[in-house]
Amino acid sequence: MIVNLDTALAILQRGETCAVPTETVYGLAARYDDEHAIQKVFSIKQRPLDHPLIVHIAHRKWLGELCTDIPAYVNALIEHFWPGPLTLILNKTARVSHLVTANQSTVAIRMPDHPDFLQLIRKLNCPVVAPSANRFCQTSPTQPSHVESGLGTNIPVLDGGPCSVGIESTILLATNQNTTEILRPGIISTADIESISKVPCITQSKSNIKTPGKHKVHYQPKKPLFVTNTMQELSNVLARHPDTRYYVMSFFDFNDTISPPYTVMPDSPEQYAQVLYSHWQSSTILEVDAILMELPPDRPEWQGIRDRIFKASHGFIE
Ligand code: TXA
Ligand code: MG
Repeated sequence: MIVNLDTALAILQRGETCAVPTETVYGLAARYDDEHAIQKVFSIKQRPLDHPLIVHIAHRKWLGELCTDIPAYVNALIEHFWPGPLTLILNKTARVSHLVTANQSTVAIRMPDHPDFLQLIRKLNCPVVAPSANRFCQTSPTQPSHVESGLGTNIPVLDGGPCSVGIESTILLATNQNTTEILRPGIISTADIESISKVPCITQSKSNIKTPGKHKVHYQPKKPLFVTNTMQELSNVLARHPDTRYYVMSFFDFNDTISPPYTVMPDSPEQYAQVLYSHWQSSTILEVDAILMELPPDRPEWQGIRDRIFKASHGFIE
């Protein structure tokens, strides 16, 4: 159910939840200080309570209410990246409920770069929790129609158009004075962060999954997703499994030389991220058995995208 900004505001004010646009993915919003409303967010998402939420703010000055012992380099990161797709994990104050942080002593905070959501937070005059507006473990929505197909048409959605970034924010642990650590890669890379913070940034283990079945499936599209490293391997899979109906997502343009439906993916990470989830979403209505993807290259600027594809996938296929 599409709602306007004033209705979205009234919904949050009375302790209900509303889906909201951000530049990354749509979120399911509630006031950060309303435990009852936050409970509803967990229950609508069917998300276990041990998964903490990101608090979204509209003013830097609100940070003091939410966190403490902020390392000096954090100011430079905020100056450069906010509003934008960078979430900072900082030590929390007593005002942040344990329900938000899943009993941890830290809180995740970001300032989203979407004019409608920022305006909504300003009018509410209160920080807002907003996990991605999808059922637990499923693909995050990047358009209002994805929210409705995932959570049902009764969920109120503030329509802010398609998300411009398209994958979830980079999450950076920023509690240590001398180093940072990426907990979830995104479109903002390790090198981007180091160049601004001037302290070393530890990246997640590069190994990710190398064998199927060893990872926790997350960001999962409705159709099973398989990956190959190269275009040649992808062509081999099509030849070996003629009876499986694949939806192919690759860099290579087949120019109508194959019969399965296929999409030629953009070769810049920014444009790729913008369309990735909507292609997964649209595979739902195609008459296919599975999605088959050629992986983007193992280079730093693709880490956020590779992370989502690996976590959503059932692994490599031959
Ligand atoms: O782009 C985004 O970050 C989107 C938009 C809506 O802002 N939000 C989002 O929220 O992706 P969610 O809840 O789907 O993912 C948040 C992630 C979870 O994996 C959670 O475990 C982690 O952030 N997180 C939250 N608080 C944390 C904390 N204190 N320490 C470590 N991880 C935390
Ligand atoms: Mg999520």
